[in-house]
Amino acid sequence: MGIKSIEDLKINNKTIILRTDYNVPLDNNDISDDNRIQATLDTINYILERNCKLIIISHLGRPKNKTDKTFSLEKIAKHLGDLIPNTEVAFSPDINIENIRDYISNMNPGNIILLENLRFYEEEKNNDPKFAKALSSLADIYVNDAFATSHRSHASMVGIPRYIPGCIGFLVKKEIKALSQGFCDPKIPVTLILGGSKVDTKAGIIRNYLDNSDNILLGGALANTFLAAKGYCIGKSKYEANKIGLAKQIINEAINYGCNLMTPRDVVVCSNISHTAEKFNILTEDIKDDMVIADIGIQTIEEYNEYIRSSGTIIWNGPVGVYEYESFSCGSKSIAESIISSNKTSIIGGGDTVDFIDKHGYKNFSHISTGGGAMIEFLEHQTLPALEVLK
Ligand code: 3PG
Repeated sequence: MGIKSIEDLKINNKTIILRTDYNVPLDNNDISDDNRIQATLDTINYILERNCKLIIISHLGRPKNKTDKTFSLEKIAKHLGDLIPNTEVAFSPDINIENIRDYISNMNPGNIILLENLRFYEEEKNNDPKFAKALSSLADIYVNDAFATSHRSHASMVGIPRYIPGCIGFLVKKEIKALSQGFCDPKIPVTLILGGSKVDTKAGIIRNYLDNSDNILLGGALANTFLAAKGYCIGKSKYEANKIGLAKQIINEAINYGCNLMTPRDVVVCSNISHTAEKFNILTEDIKDDMVIADIGIQTIEEYNEYIRSSGTIIWNGPVGVYEYESFSCGSKSIAESIISSNKTSIIGGGDTVDFIDKHGYKNFSHISTGGGAMIEFLEHQTLPALEVLK
């Protein structure tokens, strides 16, 4: 049985509980990038146009407890109100089920109530059935439009749809379509570019793509661990010592599969990462004990760009250098620019990658995923726990 989309259910005049991912970046408590909010507007408008009462639930950040007001969703309710004219967006400062029920019974259809951050309640992460059941009792239908959280088995993701009919919204539908094409029916050759820091979170997707892609190009601290596994000195660079064994296994598996798993041939190094640091482009074999790798080097950029130009599909997750510093963002910029100019099918994702492309105004990719970990896990398993539960 497949997953139902919102268009498959009769939702007119119903009360809908919509799970969104409004885990947006904040700058001094202000929303610095509202992409994830904008991405849910199609689903929200579709629901409101059908005379429904709409309860929106979400998380923001990883708060320790409810006193952590930086992570309150109140600012999101205000922002949502600005984005959807002529609609009242009420905010519930807590998740008190009976108060919310009272509010909804007097609410006019076509309006919204956004509940406070789900993660102020430990029941959310613990997938507490009572919490999920109580939330489900507020609505007739559950809609998941939180693709970026769909890898989490939390109460609002996998618990609520056990009690009421559930479906996916337009954002999740679009993600599934684009990412499934990237795996099941890609234009070949396929090139996967991975940066970021953790081997653990990327090991699954690398292994999956050893058999399903032609090139895997590594950068960032992730590449450093693979360089260390190959026996290179990586100086004072960030890496994961306890993942060298895993990196070695993956390198051997790549050889067996005939997959081109690339690490940088040359790198940009400095003595300490800073805005004013003096930087040098050197061959990987020349890295010394007191150096820090901050970006991929010129030859590597050329080589990676060549692979990008000759690919049919490019999947990119994770900047390849310390992109927060202008002087170490050349590698990531050049990857973004070659992907765009190649005009090939491109799937981009990950919080840092999206932050990077937004900052530099890079836009023309085939699909920019709202998911970070969720995108990686979807490409690894072709499904996610919160999608499975809707089948
Ligand atoms: C994300 O930003 O990747 C999602 O909102 C999930 O957040 P989490 O990693 O804190 O569960």
